[in-house]
Amino acid sequence: MQGDLDRVLFHETTIWSRLDQIAAQISKDYAEKELTVIAVLNGSLVFMADLMRRIQLPLRLDCLSVASYHGRAQTSGEVIFKQIALPDVQDRHILILDDILDSGHTLAAIRDKLQSAGPRSIKVCVLLSKKKKRDRAVDADYLGFEIEDEFVVGYGLDYDERYRNLPYIGVLRRELIKSDE
Ligand code: IMP
Ligand code: MG
Repeated sequence: MQGDLDRVLFHETTIWSRLDQIAAQISKDYAEKELTVIAVLNGSLVFMADLMRRIQLPLRLDCLSVASYHGRAQTSGEVIFKQIALPDVQDRHILILDDILDSGHTLAAIRDKLQSAGPRSIKVCVLLSKKKKRDRAVDADYLGFEIEDEFVVGYGLDYDERYRNLPYIGVLRRELIKSDE
């Protein structure tokens, strides 16, 4: 698997140090409150597990599953919610967790959907954000790292459902990415 990478961007220990900082900030910002984390599956699984254990607050966890990529490296723009019932967000402080902010379609759709269910507050936390012009305006309230517009895998992020188990994050070699044409 390592041979499929062009280069490693963030080692596990670098990610953990950043998570220590983000979790400290979240714990401070939500002091005295109960937080409801909504993790977007499957990409945020590893991130969520490492981050939530660092947050020192009473916390509820819910997960959401959406499809927008269909296993390719290009977004379709269409976001499909895979479960029938949405998590109960009414009057709660919601923190949406996702692996990466790319075109913005996924997070914008999730944020809008949860917003309409009456949360007390709603914020977004992503591990990675690509430096690019987004199709939908979404800003992360908490961000791990900004990266160039390249396709990355590992630490939960996949290409065609592979590489999620790599402990670090790296750039996938370009020639391994099938074009959508
Ligand atoms: P968006 O809707 O274009 O912002 O895409 C967000 C989703 O696309 C993420 O939750 C990821 O699942 C996937 N994605 C976008 N860029 C990458 C990448 O570089 N590597 C792996 N998955 C990605
Ligand atoms: Mg994915």
